[in-house]
Amino acid sequence: MPDTELPPPQRLCASADLAERGKAVSFDVIQWREPVRAFALRFDGQAVAYLNRCAHVPTEMDWQEGEFLDGDKRYIMCSIHGAVYDPLTGRCLMGPCTRGRLTKIELTEREGEVFWHPTRDTRPAFED
Ligand code: FES
Repeated sequence: MPDTELPPPQRLCASADLAERGKAVSFDVIQWREPVRAFALRFDGQAVAYLNRCAHVPTEMDWQEGEFLDGDKRYIMCSIHGAVYDPLTGRCLMGPCTRGRLTKIELTEREGEVFWHPTRDTRPAFED
C-alpha cells in the first residue's frame, strides 16, 4: 500500500470487552516505522485509546498487563514514576509528565465493535 494511502479503520475488539474503568485491551501499532504498544479502555462510557508510552520517559506505563488506572480508577497513572493523566484527553494532570500528553488514537464504536483509526504516522502492525 503506498505510504500516502490510509488503511481503513481497524477492528480492535468487541465493545463489551471494554468494561467501564476495567482492564485495557492492548494492541500493536507502527508509529514512524517503529512497533509500539497501544491500549484502549472505557472511561465514563467512552472508549479511548493511547499509545502505551509515557510523556515523561518513553516507556510502557501499565502496572500489570492492561492495568493503567490508579487505585481509585479516576486517572491513568504511569507505574514508573506516577505521572497522572486525564483518561478522556490524555493530558498530564500531575507528576513528571509536566505539560505533556499521551498520544491519542481515535476510536469509533459501531454495532457492538470497536475500531481504531490509523493515521499517516500511526498504522496497523500488519498491513496487506
Ligand atoms: S516514565 Fe512515566 S512517570 Fe516517568
